[in-house]
Amino acid sequence: MSDFETIIYQKQHNIAYVTLNRPQVLNAYNLRMRDELYEVLGAIKDDADVRVAVFQGAGEKAFCAGADLTEFLTAPSPLIARQVRWERDIWGLFLSLPQPLIAALHGYVLGSGIEIALCCDIRLASDDVQFGLPEPQLGIIPAAGGSQTLPRVIGGAQALEVLLSGRWLKADEARRLKLVNRVLPREELFTQAERLAKRIAGFDPAAVTNAKQAIVRGLDLSLEQGLDLEARLTGSVR
Ligand code: COA
Repeated sequence: MSDFETIIYQKQHNIAYVTLNRPQVLNAYNLRMRDELYEVLGAIKDDADVRVAVFQGAGEKAFCAGADLTEFLTAPSPLIARQVRWERDIWGLFLSLPQPLIAALHGYVLGSGIEIALCCDIRLASDDVQFGLPEPQLGIIPAAGGSQTLPRVIGGAQALEVLLSGRWLKADEARRLKLVNRVLPREELFTQAERLAKRIAGFDPAAVTNAKQAIVRGLDLSLEQGLDLEARLTGSVR
């Protein structure tokens, strides 16, 4: 688990810390990162000791500046580059994790960066954050779940406007659109993310994962089905 090239994985006091670690290219998401993230997510999912996970980016400038454009350029076409990424259902795995996931976002959060953030349950951002989806400008659409996760978080009309205009969002607007839960001074971002993770990790793990399940799964159900889900989950908590 320790020999990753593009990710730092640490586990402390029931909390998993996943750091995207290619700061020299603004943590651009390449195939190696996909494979390593896939491995780490699988490990988190199966590890009962992990009660919450925090995702962050190394370096001063970015959480993640999107897909690695050099891989796009060496592949026969952007579409084939994307097809290779689909070989592993990393986004399905991400969204299936039972533990709460916190994203601590700073600097550039672009393309797959925003999509990783949207796979998390709680998004904290620093005041220097900038969100953008450049995909349509590159002749493609977001395919790391973003076309589905973004409208579920900020609503269809807002998601369409952000995606189709290619406009970037700064911290204030991201907060206003509810893309992020909280905006924090840059120097407080990681400590606040850690503080929240520790608080959640101190609660009963079954209550926490069931609460997450009730809300996340309930969002895709009718109210009646959602209440039924809640009743079943309530019955399964001590
Ligand atoms: N893929 C590969 N390399 C990337 C990258 C990406 N998505 N984003 C940044 N980098 C690299 C740059 O090429 C540069 O490398 P270099 O120092 O060897 O020249 C380094 O990261 C620093 O980036 P730089 O462009 O110098 O920083 P900046 O502050 O001037 O600009 C951005 C930052 C984010 C505006 C700019 O890097 C950018 O537009 N990146 C591409 C974003 C994108 O389209 N992502 C794809 C989404 S699908």
